[in-house]
Amino acid sequence: MARLSSILASALLLVQAVQAGASKCPSGLVPREWEGRQYGCKCYVGDSCWPKAKAWNQLKTTVEGNLQVHVPPEAACHNTFEGPLGTLNTFDADKCAEVTANYGDEQWSTDQPALNLWKYFTNNTCTVTENPSEPCTLGYYGVYVITAKKHAHIKAGVDFARTHNLRLIIRNTGHDFIGRSTGWGALIINTHSFQDIDIITSFSGPGNYDGPAVKIGAGVQGRQLVRTVAAQGLAVVTGECPTVGITGGLIGGGGHGPLTTLYGMAADQVLEFDILTVNGEYKTVNADNEPELFWALKGGGPSTYAVVLSATIRAFPELIASGADLFINTTVISDEAVFWEGVRIFHKWSNHFVDSGLYAYFEIFPGTFRTKPFVAINQTVDQLEAILAPMIAELEEAAIPHEVQLRQYETFHDLYIDRFEDEGAGAFALTGGWLFTHKDVEDHNDAIVEAFQTVISPRPDLVYQGGIIGHLFDAGHNHPVPNSATHPLWRKGTDFTIAILSVPQGASLEVKADLQDVLTNVQDAALRAAGPNGFTYVNEADPFQPNWQDHFWGDIYPELRALKKKWDPRGVLYAVSTPEPRSGRSSSTARAFACALIKNKSYT
Ligand SMILES: Cc1cc2nc3c(=O)[nH]c(=O)nc-3n(C[C@H](O)[C@H](O)[C@H](O)COP(=O)(O)OP(=O)(O)OC[C@H]3O[C@@H](n4cnc5c(N)ncnc54)[C@H](O)[C@@H]3O)c2cc1C
Ligand SMILES: *[C@@H]1O[C@H](CO)[C@@H](O)[C@H](O)[C@H]1NC(C)=O
Ligand SMILES: *[C@@H]1O[C@H](CO)[C@@H](O)[C@H](O)[C@H]1NC(C)=O
Ligand SMILES: *[C@@H]1O[C@H](CO)[C@@H](O)[C@H](O)[C@H]1NC(C)=O
Ligand SMILES: *[C@@H]1O[C@H](CO)[C@@H](O)[C@H](O)[C@H]1NC(C)=O
Repeated sequence: MARLSSILASALLLVQAVQAGASKCPSGLVPREWEGRQYGCKCYVGDSCWPKAKAWNQLKTTVEGNLQVHVPPEAACHNTFEGPLGTLNTFDADKCAEVTANYGDEQWSTDQPALNLWKYFTNNTCTVTENPSEPCTLGYYGVYVITAKKHAHIKAGVDFARTHNLRLIIRNTGHDFIGRSTGWGALIINTHSFQDIDIITSFSGPGNYDGPAVKIGAGVQGRQLVRTVAAQGLAVVTGECPTVGITGGLIGGGGHGPLTTLYGMAADQVLEFDILTVNGEYKTVNADNEPELFWALKGGGPSTYAVVLSATIRAFPELIASGADLFINTTVISDEAVFWEGVRIFHKWSNHFVDSGLYAYFEIFPGTFRTKPFVAINQTVDQLEAILAPMIAELEEAAIPHEVQLRQYETFHDLYIDRFEDEGAGAFALTGGWLFTHKDVEDHNDAIVEAFQTVISPRPDLVYQGGIIGHLFDAGHNHPVPNSATHPLWRKGTDFTIAILSVPQGASLEVKADLQDVLTNVQDAALRAAGPNGFTYVNEADPFQPNWQDHFWGDIYPELRALKKKWDPRGVLYAVSTPEPRSGRSSSTARAFACALIKNKSYT
């Protein structure tokens, strides 16, 4: 806790240092000091190296007008927005009504230039309100945003950020749980307008694959892709969530979804990328051309090696699919022990489910357990019912009230649209998570379910402040040989569990530091202890956990770091908890504020 509160306190110091203005920028780097140590930082507003208005105007011309000072949409509900570039009058009743009405809507949120879906890492300093005199500030959002319409606009932004040593953020959907789609003081490049989806009936490029494929632009999201390929009788691996993007976090971090037990991770599907390097060069990379970079871009960390402009991924013929929902509600169970016994029975069968080819998405929130849904591709409803039968029999034997809804669909697409829901935008919460392997489920199921209870109620004063989102799948079920830079243990997985901890709106730095400590050292610690053979997922995990390199990538981390060093030695791209050019030089403070990416080693 002491460490984390000092991180957050340091954030304040950083803000103050910037406001005071730093005088020197050696080699384009800004020296800053925390905790008695020297860092070299990106150039922020107030530093003398921050580009002058003339340079920004030139950039605006280069990107054909698609550059704006980033004003969060919530500012419409406030009289003024106090940004780093000055104060603006922002109140607009109609716009405020629109923003308020849509605030919980995922698709609306992803369609904004730079809004984040999950607010915690934005610092949430400008929210919708009925009181326009409340303050509205930028928090940890970026200062400028390019809404790129052409690849040349992305290139202009990358060149500008590199030349001026600005913090650079690539943003498609703003979905990121751990704040990587925003960045305090940054230039943001929004890629959401690249919506191309081109179906390739028979791919004939490098990589030993011969079959249908689809080439997708950097702005495409899951549901849109599922719909478009289904119209041609095809299916592809996406996330379960309809609004998650494909080429950014999903493929860059690994990507699991309803088709993963059958076909592997999203990253495994890639045949080729079109990219822009941090030096502003366009390249096509695949199994023949820059194969190591190609490998790293598949799961080795989003926003780490290059900007992805498009990805060509494998597609598969549509198949029939069956779905089932399972509910165990405390509304009908007054005894909590009975509820948890139901969860224990469900989870005990999770190896059996993935071994039978299933994927399942489940949630445990106070008072409710639901699996919505179990997914069985290429299996009839009778087959699915038979797979679930031993669990149902055990629930019945133990007299656990429950409810099951089964149905067969003509295609996976029909199941996806019927059973998967948009989740709400706007949560203010911390997220952690851990993957339980087959072995851990087999050996420690009771301990895993006890750890779930710790996640839900991590401390006597935090009863029911936690939540769990679990995903049953095994990326190794049909694909024992991974071709991507994903943690090798995904191929022995059964349950990837996300831990959630709500944070009260407006929490003080002390409260935030305390809750971060609970996430790392109580909730995630319980999950880790219950799953000693596990690891975790860079997209859905605590960015401040110890040993993140090993937890996210295991043995392949050193190779990924070498590739980061090769393709982005100066750290033009930066995302927390992804491979860094050099080892051991960044503290958590620096990682959270992109300040360790220094050229001059003696600053570390
Ligand atoms: C409600 C919800 C459900 C989720 N469900 C799933 C799921 O089923 N499966 C799963 O695997 N994950 C899931 N996730 C996690 C998801 O993978 C991450 O949030 C991921 O970062 C989202 O990627 P994005 O590109 O949509 O988001 P963004 O926020 O736009 O970007 C995320 C990261 O990718 C980088 N990036 C974006 N575009 C590019 C690009 N073109 N080139 C290089 N870097 C880029 C960004 O800089 C950032 O670091 C879920 C998250 C949420 C909030
Ligand atoms: C972030 O939020 C904290 C409160 O938790 C506040 O003290 C701090 O000033 C905020 N910083 C910025 C830059 O918004
Ligand atoms: C359990 O909860 C689900 C979802 O909230 C609801 O649809 C279902 O009717 C509930 N069942 C019982 C028995 O309360
Ligand atoms: C679907 O099932 C059929 C027979 O049940 C089998 O031959 C085929 O290989 C399966 N397809 C996939 C992709 O598993
Ligand atoms: C690195 O920083 C040190 C300390 O400020 C300075 O003396 C040295 O000249 C710098 N080296 C380079 C290569 O910039």
